Amino acid sequence: SIGFINGQFIEINQAVIPIEERGHQFGDGVYEFVKVYNSVPFLLEEHINRLEKSAAGIDIKLPYSLGEIKAIVIESIKKSGLKDAEVYFQATRGIAPRNHAFPDVSSSFTLTVKPSRKVPKQSYEEGIDTILLEDERWGRCHIKSLNLLPNILAKHQAAKGGNFEAILVKDGYVTEGTSSNVFVVKNGVLYTTPLTSNILAGITREAILKLAESANVVSIEKKFTPEFLSEADEAFISSTSVEILPIRAVNQQLIGNGKPGETTKTLHNLLCKLRD
Ligand code: PDD
Repeated sequence: SIGFINGQFIEINQAVIPIEERGHQFGDGVYEFVKVYNSVPFLLEEHINRLEKSAAGIDIKLPYSLGEIKAIVIESIKKSGLKDAEVYFQATRGIAPRNHAFPDVSSSFTLTVKPSRKVPKQSYEEGIDTILLEDERWGRCHIKSLNLLPNILAKHQAAKGGNFEAILVKDGYVTEGTSSNVFVVKNGVLYTTPLTSNILAGITREAILKLAESANVVSIEKKFTPEFLSEADEAFISSTSVEILPIRAVNQQLIGNGKPGETTKTLHNLLCKLRD
């Protein structure tokens, strides 16, 4: 593992964040999470572009150009010596005396490279259990903000009951998971929630929609209800960390026959091929 803070490589646990750092005190920042397969960061440019959008969305000027961030990520991976890794990086508004209104300070950029955590094989083979919860987040969920309290609490509630993910519902419609996007397959058609400020524009989501097109699977970006999800033939979640993970049950009710569906497996195979 390795860390990077404002221009310096460090051991992860060596990093010291000043008390009056706005990321620390307010969660005043944005982040990205990238997976590295066989030393290559997957869809890195897409993630860096999203970081720029998130930063602009909360008025943070990144301390590096997008090209510089790319170079830092690649150098960090090299320095870590890891082949299969996860890279986390964040930009915060920087250091200033605590005050809600923010001064024009220079932003801070930190990064870690750590060995990849693996989702158990069993979860892919059997699917995961999920629960539905009210989406209590703010109105700008398209920004990948450090403020994750509602996500963390919902995920914790899911985990306490032995579930892998909580699927969030806003105004009667499924938005996304606490750290994933949600897809449904019904009569061979793929459905996912459209991009609005209610969800994060998942990099994996986008890749899946392209792969579906290449595999002649019709996809529709349309909002759907929890009932539509429960009555689906197949359902899965997507994210950088889990790729595509079949949903076995929602609120203890099985999806389809409770086994990962063919379309789900096809799309996951295609996604794996994309990075090999
Ligand atoms: N989470 N929706 C939310 C709320 C997320 O936090 C994530 C990713 C996604 C999927 O986005 P992507 O396919 O770009 O990873 C959707 C990351 C993995 C995290 O929080 O670490």
